[in-house]
Amino acid sequence: MSKLWGGRFTKKTDQLVEEYTASITFDKELAEEDVQGSLAHVTMLGKQGILPADDVDTIKDGLHRVLQRIKRGDWEFDIADEDIHMNIEKALIEDIGPVGGKLHTGRSRNDQVATDMHLYLRKRVVEFVDLLQKLQSALLEQAKANLDTIVPGYTHLQRAQPILFAHHLMAYVSMFGRDAERLQDSYKRINTLPLGAGALAGTTFPIDRHFVAKQLGFDRVYENSLDAVSDRDFILEFLSHASIIMMHLSRLSEELILWSSTEFRFVELDDAFCTGSSIMPQKKNPDVPELVRGKTGRVYGNLIGLLTVLKSLPLAYNKDMQEDKEGMFDTVRTLQGALQLFAPMITTMKVNKDVMRQAVNQDFSNATDIADFLVNKGLPFRQAHEVIGKTVLYCIQQNKYLLDLTLDEFKQFSPLFDDRIYEVLQPVNVVNARNVYGGTATPQVTDAITRAERELDATAAWVTEFAEKSR
Ligand code: ARG
Repeated sequence: MSKLWGGRFTKKTDQLVEEYTASITFDKELAEEDVQGSLAHVTMLGKQGILPADDVDTIKDGLHRVLQRIKRGDWEFDIADEDIHMNIEKALIEDIGPVGGKLHTGRSRNDQVATDMHLYLRKRVVEFVDLLQKLQSALLEQAKANLDTIVPGYTHLQRAQPILFAHHLMAYVSMFGRDAERLQDSYKRINTLPLGAGALAGTTFPIDRHFVAKQLGFDRVYENSLDAVSDRDFILEFLSHASIIMMHLSRLSEELILWSSTEFRFVELDDAFCTGSSIMPQKKNPDVPELVRGKTGRVYGNLIGLLTVLKSLPLAYNKDMQEDKEGMFDTVRTLQGALQLFAPMITTMKVNKDVMRQAVNQDFSNATDIADFLVNKGLPFRQAHEVIGKTVLYCIQQNKYLLDLTLDEFKQFSPLFDDRIYEVLQPVNVVNARNVYGGTATPQVTDAITRAERELDATAAWVTEFAEKSR
């Protein structure tokens, strides 16, 4: 059979052009969504009396068979048929005869491909919310197991104030929570139906777009036919949300890499998540977080790539837009890989509580608290800051930590010191003194964990509901 659009042409397409313009090598991933959209479309054509019921049944049976063959791998896609849409239509016509040619009534590949992308992405969004939630659960379990683990908190990567390791992990729970929320928000824009826009202007057939939307579980239809076929904002949104997720993962990756170095030794990643060196027998490398950190680049690249493709594109469809797919598929795969690995890697990570604790005992991260001690005695904070700065300098010169100083030594710097400072300076008391909402004190972190657990339950319920809606 010749090309589906061959009528107007007198020459065969150049072989290189065929290869250059075809998208079947990658958009075959949309086979299921393409058939799903076609089934809803042809059902609507029947209901509207545009096609006779017999033809509709024949086409639907044929579409099911074609999809089964594709899924079984028992169908050879042909690059001459350009893309998934025409490959499926060709397969359908081969299966049921010329009546298969009625499927494309009142439809264009432009509204068809946009519909496929919406169907595809809404499933992925639900899966990613689920994966994020699993990662959050893994972090939350580690947090629960580390409610008594004190670790230096850093700013500028310099020891700042001691915190609970649980508190540090819960920061990531919040970050991934926002990521999940962003994806959930985007669902409503993804869940809008372009089909019925035709090539760009609508169609002469008396179609019922809202009926198609209802069958496919779309909450609404695009208001404007030009916009329906030209809009790729929903993909850009996904790519930018994915970029932010990767950015978060790369920050956590960087910390895991640092923490598992000999210099830190705060954590040890499980053997199953590390690799060795071909030359240095002692090596155990954190390849997974390194690669996640590295793959952040391609995810950003896919976002910038599509933004650039769409920049200055005139309305409505342009072939440029076929370039929306490979980057999106690549981002989906990259993000899936990272999130799937991260949850078990966090779960199996060994936390060296003693090393963390030891670190806190050998720093000045309790300095703010003696400044606050003097403030509570009535000294203005700025003066207290100066006093403690001098005290720390003295310690450094004497090769001591604050807790090593005698009360007499303290009193050289301010007469306001008394022996209660030794209690105040204990890391556990430093931590628990920060008893404000969102702070690192044990009761606050415990409450934060409870709140996060409640939110995760709500997210899990959302995933169940929307997985059903998005099938
Ligand atoms: N393969 C095309 C794409 O992905 C489908 C739409 C083609 N439309 C057209 N008018 N050539 O963008």
